[in-house]
Amino acid sequence: MSASDAPILFLDSGVGGLSVLAPTRALLPAAPVVYVADNAGFPYGTKTEGEIAARVPALLGRLVERYRPRLIVIACNTASTIALGAVRTALDVPVVGTVPAIKPAAEASVTRVIGVLGTEATVRQPYVDDLTARFAADCTVLRHGSATLVALAEGKLAGAPPDLDAYRAVMAGLLDQPGGECIDVVVNACTHFPLVVEELAAVSPPGLRFVDGGPGIARRVAYLTAGQEWPAGDATGRAVFTRGDAAALALGSALARFGLARIEEL
Ligand code: DGL
Repeated sequence: MSASDAPILFLDSGVGGLSVLAPTRALLPAAPVVYVADNAGFPYGTKTEGEIAARVPALLGRLVERYRPRLIVIACNTASTIALGAVRTALDVPVVGTVPAIKPAAEASVTRVIGVLGTEATVRQPYVDDLTARFAADCTVLRHGSATLVALAEGKLAGAPPDLDAYRAVMAGLLDQPGGECIDVVVNACTHFPLVVEELAAVSPPGLRFVDGGPGIARRVAYLTAGQEWPAGDATGRAVFTRGDAAALALGSALARFGLARIEEL
């Protein structure tokens, strides 16, 4: 494999990282891509810090040996807020993480009340306290962790019809907190959630804005790879599952829409 063939490797527990892949591909259409869904470890958001800290660096170590990426995108807030430092220490490849987009949310908020919607693991991370202190110190930041919303996003991409009552219940977890009625910007702090932003908006007060880290990460990846060579011809995209089960196959057509024509098992 020549240097120009070296892919950008994206990692998530499931389909969530596609919300980071899509804006990256829009900026870098010639980039070869390996999209890894660690469905054997899914979901990450209900796991302990110790489980994520053990699993993610080890898995990425195997993936680097196998696919020799030029750059890794941890397209998962849960894995990034827990294991980004350890992954960077362990690997000799540039690593871009996905962390809650609290800074752009604070810049956009007029009411100074922000919602952070993530996994249960993400919303309890000190990393979120730190981002809040640095970028939203004058805001009230309300958090809600939801494993249901992760499952709803997986279901949507596998073709399940939307259950708006389920989305409404998730949003109530945020909006029904004291002060929640003043939230004007919600951070989609799990990469699965931008995939269901239309459904979230449909059950939310009009005018509520949703932001996520995808576009910023895409710009960061473009910056870090500026001047690098890409292969000639159509960019290749492959999806890799850590467990090749029927659920993975059900996602085939959704993956193809994101330019991932090949599916394989690690
Ligand atoms: N997409 C992941 C995130 O950004 C986690 C989903 C999960 O496996 O719980 O946090």
